[in-house]
Amino acid sequence: MSSSVVAVSSSVHWVGVRHPDLQFFDDLFPTHNGTTYNSYLVRGRDKTILIDSVKEKFSDEFLANIEQILPVASIDAIVVNHTEPDHSGALGRLVELNPKLVIYCSRPAANFLKQLLHRPLNIEVVEDGQKIDLGGKTLRIISAPFLHWPDTIMTCLVEEQILFSCDAFGAHYCPKGYMFDDQIADFSSDFHAYFDSIMRPFKDKIREALSRIDDLPIQMVCPSHGPIRRLTHADAIHSYRRWSALPPEGEKPKAVLAILSSHGNTRLMGGVVRQTLEARGFDVQEFALCGMRDDDFRDALEQADVLLIGSPTIQRDAPPHVWHALSLLSTVTLKSRLAAVFGSFGWSGEAAGMIETRLAGLKFKLAAETLTCRFTPTEEVFESTRLFAGQIADTVLNEG
Ligand code: FEO
Repeated sequence: MSSSVVAVSSSVHWVGVRHPDLQFFDDLFPTHNGTTYNSYLVRGRDKTILIDSVKEKFSDEFLANIEQILPVASIDAIVVNHTEPDHSGALGRLVELNPKLVIYCSRPAANFLKQLLHRPLNIEVVEDGQKIDLGGKTLRIISAPFLHWPDTIMTCLVEEQILFSCDAFGAHYCPKGYMFDDQIADFSSDFHAYFDSIMRPFKDKIREALSRIDDLPIQMVCPSHGPIRRLTHADAIHSYRRWSALPPEGEKPKAVLAILSSHGNTRLMGGVVRQTLEARGFDVQEFALCGMRDDDFRDALEQADVLLIGSPTIQRDAPPHVWHALSLLSTVTLKSRLAAVFGSFGWSGEAAGMIETRLAGLKFKLAAETLTCRFTPTEEVFESTRLFAGQIADTVLNEG
């Protein structure tokens, strides 16, 4: 048998494909070591079932891999753990070759598949805990919504204690010639980067999913991307537990104060905001948006009770660093969606309103009415700034 197919156990084969030269996943996230699209063929006494397919452009290679083991037309069903096209893209070709193929998936996945493939499909919606009997082998469905799409499920091969975990516990890492964790170099940085880019916005959902596999005996984790975890499955699960833990409860409410100040005026207002909040017992973490490290800002956002953005208006817009900071809000699991906006402007002052609109689009509520001033703040402006910050403190403390 060619090395393009890997025996995972006596009843499971990896029939996925490798994409070593991928540079950006989904045109979004850099992949330094390519990726794999993992698909698994599970054979029981009576039935053969695939777990997931691969990206459409690799359909020929994928089908050829399956044919090394058995005819595609003889497969009874596929479990679609998740419908993102990197795992459902080749499903169209599979169904052309095997029109009776039963497609087991979640209810959201059933809707997505209809809109992705636009053809008749033999779908059977599965629920959490449902078992699929293959004859001497049993697949059990584990619901895992928003890990990282609303459609996600995981599947467990009960007798062999193998968890097909979908995107969870994956890594964009394409091993050369091997598929098991104990055969390859350290890929922990790719594993962490994958969590950070794909999973981090869904920490609450990760905690829910982890609670569903808490009591599950697991000997191996077979994810949808990257190496199969036969030696380090417990480490992978433990890492997810650690990275998705609730933020520690501090004694003080926390504010993130993010400022861009071209001529120092917005920063002067920010200083008053900071003093006022600290006097009210807040822990204030300040960021200069023109030079911050994204990772530090993202970490702080996940622990903040309120986000304060101070910005000038430049060329009738908020500056690029401000838009960049706003773009990071959807990449983390926020503790709070309270915010406030302030800043000094010289000519037209559009930035504050634009930032408000963006925050509203991300479902943030304003903790105080936006405060702006023209050019250099006066003592009157500072007094308004103290009232502004006081209102923010009241809102946070009342909502907490
Ligand atoms: Fe690997 Fe969410 O697809």
